This record gives sequence, structure tokens and C-alpha cells, in this order.
Amino acid sequence: MHKLYVAMVGLPGRGKSTMARRIRDGLLAEGIAARIFNNGDVRRQLLGSESTEPDFYNPDNSFGRQARELICRRNLEEAQTWMAGEGEVAILDATNASRARRQFIEATLKDHPVLFLECVNEDPLLLNACIRRKADLPEYAAYSREEALASFMKRIEYYETIYDPLSDEQYWMCVDSTANRVLAEHPCESSPFYAAIREIVVSVWTPCLYLARHGQTEFNVQGRIGGDPPLTARGRAQALALARHMEGKPIDWVFTSTRMRAHETAAPLLERHPEAHVMALREFDEIWAGDCENMLYSEIREKMPEVTAARNADKYSYAYPNGESYAILRERVQRGLRRALFLAGDQPLLILGHQAINRVLISLFLRQRTEDVPYIHIPQNQYFHIALTPHRKLFERVPYEGIGAPADKDTALKDPQIYA
Ligand code: F6P
Repeated sequence: MHKLYVAMVGLPGRGKSTMARRIRDGLLAEGIAARIFNNGDVRRQLLGSESTEPDFYNPDNSFGRQARELICRRNLEEAQTWMAGEGEVAILDATNASRARRQFIEATLKDHPVLFLECVNEDPLLLNACIRRKADLPEYAAYSREEALASFMKRIEYYETIYDPLSDEQYWMCVDSTANRVLAEHPCESSPFYAAIREIVVSVWTPCLYLARHGQTEFNVQGRIGGDPPLTARGRAQALALARHMEGKPIDWVFTSTRMRAHETAAPLLERHPEAHVMALREFDEIWAGDCENMLYSEIREKMPEVTAARNADKYSYAYPNGESYAILRERVQRGLRRALFLAGDQPLLILGHQAINRVLISLFLRQRTEDVPYIHIPQNQYFHIALTPHRKLFERVPYEGIGAPADKDTALKDPQIYA
């Protein structure tokens, strides 16, 4: 019988539950009977608000310790019962932070091998955002935002005091969950599910990503680069057309650059998606043209012909004087994409970027030859719709601009939060 337990490991905010769901969904799509057994769900059912208090997680609190052991045991029993029947892969979603806990799991689950899957996330921006999001959970409904944050931080502190990274366990995989990357592993070769799980873990996973460019600006009309120009009336009409086109489509996250044209484009869309989380990331700011910022292409050609010539010769690698190249851009855009995908998890997201940024983003998905990347066509009245999971690869360009769609009012993103 080839069955497998997968026990998640990691402190809160490391992406364990998203990973657990992906493993379940990816295996189910292969026809493999997979199910999640979540300690947190059992805890909330059994103890309710009592277990929200941080002291419940204090290792010196014997009531909390015993209650958590009981919850763990209850969950393991349920998983074993299911595995004795139709179950093939039981995923145990919990922090499983201490070595003692993991030894207990290995000692209890003798019926099938246990693969420990540790999720690591060392990006402070993401950790911070994850912790802030936890404060919105129903569990903290009776708390003020500040109280909820303080309580959750205290809970993490307690977990940190007992946390042991993986090492002695028989089968394990340590994953950077912000980069879909296996950092180290001790494979369970005997399990036919190991390869399928590994594939899921390393796959870029985004069931619904919209990638749009800001609407037309005065600079676009003039052929001027960089800067922070506002949209033209046509640009605002494009923003409105995009918003109308997206009306009724679920969008949980909207990522923009920190530039005015991106915020103005997002504004009418956000009015129609008031629940969406919004985040402005500097990683999505347009290529920095250094000494050439705010100049016309024609001016650069006349006054700095060496720039135009060098750029024409190798547009991907050429960096503007005191500015960036596409090659340089790649690293920060990749970081921005990782952040956006991690935060959105499996929820639909929209990235509102710029010409060069969107070219690089597309190249990260399509692995284009580098010399072609700076020439990818990025229209201002179409967006890319991307869906990537191990079982579905979709990449389509969708036009959204209704002919002559009027701009009904000027809207601007109010007080966007700027990160990084
Ligand atoms: O022209 C609009 C713009 O977004 C500029 O701000 C930016 O410098 C340029 O596109 C990037 O495109 P290219 O690399 O083709 O000049």
C-alpha cells in the first residue's frame, strides 16, 4: 500500500496552509485521494476564543500545552481512520514546530511514511503583511486591530521559543514558499506521491492573474519617458473601460507601482472592487531611465546619440546612464512578482504595471529570448489573463476598451500604501 502522510512544519505566516491546499488540489486533480487535517480547525471547534489568547501558546502554560497535544492527537486519529479507508495522502496542517512534536507524529503514524514539509519565508515585507492579515480573521473579531496584532505577535514569539528546524526526521523537504523552491530535501523515494508533491511545490501557481498596463499619459502622447505624469482623458477612459470590463470578476488583490498613472488607472476598478487588498510595490515602478528621465525619445536621439545607438545595439543589456537596463529590471520585477503571488495565494490578482515592467513580467512566465523581451507589445487597451497551475496553463491577451468609452469622473487612488 503506497500511502503517505504529509506533515506541514513552519511558524505562522510562512505559507503552510496555502501550500497544503495546493498539494491537496494538485493531487485531487491527479485522481489521488488527498485531504487536509487542520489542527487550528479542531482547536477552534473545541476551545473557541479561549485558544486565541496568546498565553494558550506559552510553553510554560500546562493547560495550553496539554490542550494542544490533545488536539494534535485527535487530528492524527482522524487522519489515520481516513487513511485506513479510501485516503491516500493525509496532509496535517499545523506548525509542528518542535522536534518533540514531530517525533510524536512519527511514533504515532506507523502505518505509512511521514513526509515533513517545512515552509520558510524570510521576506520581512511578506511576514509583516501576513501577520496584518491574520488580525482580520474571525478569531480576532472581538479585538481591536492593535490588540489582535499584539496578540498574534505574542503567539508567534512563543512558537519561536520551541521552534526546531527539520534535520533528524526521516523524510523531509524544506521549501522557500515565496519562491517555489526546494532548499533541501531528504526524499521519500519509496512513495509514488513524492514526485507529484515536489512538482506541485516548485510550480508557479496562480489560478487567475490579470496583468494590465496603465492608461495613456501625456508623456505617452509626446513620446517622453519615465517621470510621474497623470493620465490623459483617453487614459482615464481606458481606466474606466478596464474597470467596467472587470466588474463582476472576482479580484482579491490589486498590485500597482508607486506611480500616479498606475494609481489613477486602478482607481475606478477599486471603486468596483472595494473588498480588494491594494498594495503599491516599488518593484513595479517603470524602468528608471537615469539621466534620460523625462526626456523625449527624439531629444535623446539628438542630444545623446550614443545612448540611442547603444540601446539599439543591445536593448536588453543596455543601462541608461545612472539608470537601469531590462537585465537589471528583471531582478526587482521577479521579487515583486514573488511577493504578489505569495500574498494573493490562490486568490485572483491584478497587477497594474508599465510597458517595460509588463514585458519583464511576461518574459518571466514565457521564458522569452532576452533579445526579444524589450520589444514585447504591451498595449494600453488590452490585458493579459494568465492562469498557471500544474494542470492548467493559460495565457491570453484580452481587449477591454469600448470604443469611445467616456471618462465619467476623475478618480485617484486615495492614500495608497507604499511598500519596500
Ligand atoms: O514610453 C513609456 C515608457 O513606459 C517609458 O516610461 C519607459 O522608459 C519606456 O516605456 C520603456 O519602453 P522602451 O524600453 O521600449 O523604451
